[in-house]
Amino acid sequence: MPPVEAKDVVKRFGSREALRGVSLKAAAGELVAVIGPNGAGKTTLLSILAGIAKPDEGQVNSDGGAVGWIPQQAALYRRLTVEENLLLFARLEGHPNPRASVEEMLGLTGLAERRGEIVARLSGGNQQRINIAIGLLSRPAVLLLDEPSVGLDPRQRARLWEFVSGLAGRGTTVIFSTHDIQEAERYGGRVLVLADGESLFDGSAGELREAVRREAPEDADRDFETAFVAYLRHRGH
Ligand SMILES: Nc1ncnc2c1ncn2[C@@H]1O[C@H](COP(=O)(O)OP(=O)(O)OP(=O)(O)O)[C@@H](O)[C@H]1O
Ligand SMILES: [Mg+2]
Repeated sequence: MPPVEAKDVVKRFGSREALRGVSLKAAAGELVAVIGPNGAGKTTLLSILAGIAKPDEGQVNSDGGAVGWIPQQAALYRRLTVEENLLLFARLEGHPNPRASVEEMLGLTGLAERRGEIVARLSGGNQQRINIAIGLLSRPAVLLLDEPSVGLDPRQRARLWEFVSGLAGRGTTVIFSTHDIQEAERYGGRVLVLADGESLFDGSAGELREAVRREAPEDADRDFETAFVAYLRHRGH
């Protein structure tokens, strides 16, 4: 069984269908980008994969390994230090040895020297690292990141992706959402395109370029983002 898999998932909020039969399978060590406009269903899909929300129809299967969920908004205690935040979450999660788990995460995320700093004084990039460290505390086989690079400058972004790619290189399955087509293309070994709850595309970045060229030939030679918007329009979104 793959580390995580969604089959024909439907999710409704009242009369609104946030997901209309979306499927996704990810192998160990795979990096999957979920891209699509506001309201496409990206967060809904990730939260269902994380087991936080239940689908109305369809199935979610995993091979039993832990799933780490890294929400868009870090729920950090801004007046506590880096270490205090990690310790708090390790205790909330009921780790048998919270101190050891925290030491491990401080090392893994390169935050060891910043351990005593108050979170509110850290850069957005370092706050995002703590957010990721918390998601990694349970040593998950699958890591779900909801728009992890929002608000980061290019250098912090590059460091984030270096770190996340390293995790994938060591076998963690990573599924992330983004609005940034270039980021999806660069870091997603596979790309899933969602729009209005519908799955429009699932394949490699190269295949997505081909699909965009096929569907929106008149815009294909413009930058990829413009061509992608034209592609969504052609597909009725
Ligand atoms: N708790 C909720 N109650 C009602 N409607 C919801 C709820 N959560 C999501 N929705 C609706 O479901 C749809 C998909 O939302 P979702 O947050 O998954 O989109 P998204 O792709 O993550 O968008 P964004 O890019 O803005 O983060 C939207 O129409 C949204 O309004
Ligand atoms: Mg979202």
